[in-house]
Amino acid sequence: MNAQPVTAQPATTQPAAAQPAPGQPVAGQCPVDHRALAAAAAAESTAGHHGYSPFDMNDPFPAYAELREEEPVMFDERIGYYVVSRYADIKAVFDNWVVFSSENAQAPVRPRGAAATKIMADGGFTAYSGLSARVPPEHTRMRTIVQQEFSPRRYKALEPTIRENTARLLAQMLAHPDARGDFLKDVAVDIPTITILGLLGVGPDMVPTYKKWSDSRAAMTWGDLSDEEQIPHAHNLVDYWTECRRLVSAAHEAIGAGTAGTDLVTDLVRAQLAGGEISDHEIASVCYSLLFAGHETTTTLISNTIRMLLSHPGEWQKLVEDPRRIAGAIDETLRYSPSIVGWRRKALVDTEIAGTAIPKGANILLLMGAANRDPSVFEDPEVFDIERANARTHLSFGFGIHYCLGNMLAKLQDKIVVEETIRAVPGLRIVDPEAIVFGDNLSFRAPTSVPVTWEANA
Ligand code: HEM
Repeated sequence: MNAQPVTAQPATTQPAAAQPAPGQPVAGQCPVDHRALAAAAAAESTAGHHGYSPFDMNDPFPAYAELREEEPVMFDERIGYYVVSRYADIKAVFDNWVVFSSENAQAPVRPRGAAATKIMADGGFTAYSGLSARVPPEHTRMRTIVQQEFSPRRYKALEPTIRENTARLLAQMLAHPDARGDFLKDVAVDIPTITILGLLGVGPDMVPTYKKWSDSRAAMTWGDLSDEEQIPHAHNLVDYWTECRRLVSAAHEAIGAGTAGTDLVTDLVRAQLAGGEISDHEIASVCYSLLFAGHETTTTLISNTIRMLLSHPGEWQKLVEDPRRIAGAIDETLRYSPSIVGWRRKALVDTEIAGTAIPKGANILLLMGAANRDPSVFEDPEVFDIERANARTHLSFGFGIHYCLGNMLAKLQDKIVVEETIRAVPGLRIVDPEAIVFGDNLSFRAPTSVPVTWEANA
């Protein structure tokens, strides 16, 4: 029943056979051994941190295991966060919003530079968070209204369109004459982006624009950018926020003119007009949040599900034989390779986690990617097993009052994509999964490609 674990490595930039002996220059090549220097710099920066490198997402799992074992609550002075890695501790922190607030969940990890700050102030950027960084009672008031829009009825209505879009994108990919594709770019990017834009009343022609804005949001909040690198992203965030505000004004106008539809923005404005306590700025903030949260992580989930299953052909075959196992495969992917590996909280009082003192005001990084492989909860945690009985108890959607509002939508889309892929191309194969690179980020662990191939005319 068990399959072998796979961990992705960064692509190497030199062929292994061309390696000179350490310290020996090679004729015609730079005498400086840059690989050795980079390796030494990485070792120095992770020394004393159990190999943990906060922004390196290529293969964080060995460091997570060491942290869990040796220093389950570690203060990391490089980022200024207490890093927590055991399942029980993380779940307890998520569950205690009175002591551990989510107010820092959307704060830039690296301070904003002067130029970016000015661009955003001049552009009228006042967005912060839809729900995830808001705290009770404000959070409770808004979530009560917003969650009514995430009903099973709404999902049911979306299903045929998601299936049609998936079939169309798969057919386009399978038409590539060289029988090679990138599942991420060919399928996984567009499906959740079209879905969430449609939900908010935005047309599919805007996919590239929202993708660009979302990339900027991820980089500006959870990335490690220099002041100069922040500048183009600051412009993008101003445009993104301006558009969210425009969506709310347009919904008001359409309701006034009697031409409004039933998209989520319009329904939130209707709820407000019917006496619901939610302001225009708050509705725009919810749009700002959903137009990011609603696709980035789902694109990663779809990419990871296909990547993990194809990297374990025995598990893929089980699904081909019995697609009813898809729900288990999705939960196991969320456990084994979560889209978000770390999420933040702030201590509101002097407290402790597992015996380590945490001062009032301290920032805390909860490593769900480490919790999901905690051997005290998951047997043989390094094994990817789609029949694992307790895979659903992963912490990849958080826990407690902020538990992910879109979890069912994410899983629904992943399920449809896997079903349609099995139907269209059961012989799909992955190409060189060990070479897949993951983008640098503190929280989001996203592959940058999922290369696939298939038998032409099969
Ligand atoms: C695989 C896909 C997804 C993952 C891994 C994910 C993960 C998360 C996580 C870790 C949180 C924070 C939980 C906490 O603080 O306890 C969260 C919150 C949230 N997510 Fe997701 N998410 C996904 C998909 C989505 C989708 C598709 C939507 C919307 C359509 C969405 C909307 C939200 C919202 C609105 C919140 C804030 C909830 C609150 O603070 O009350 N997410 N998600």
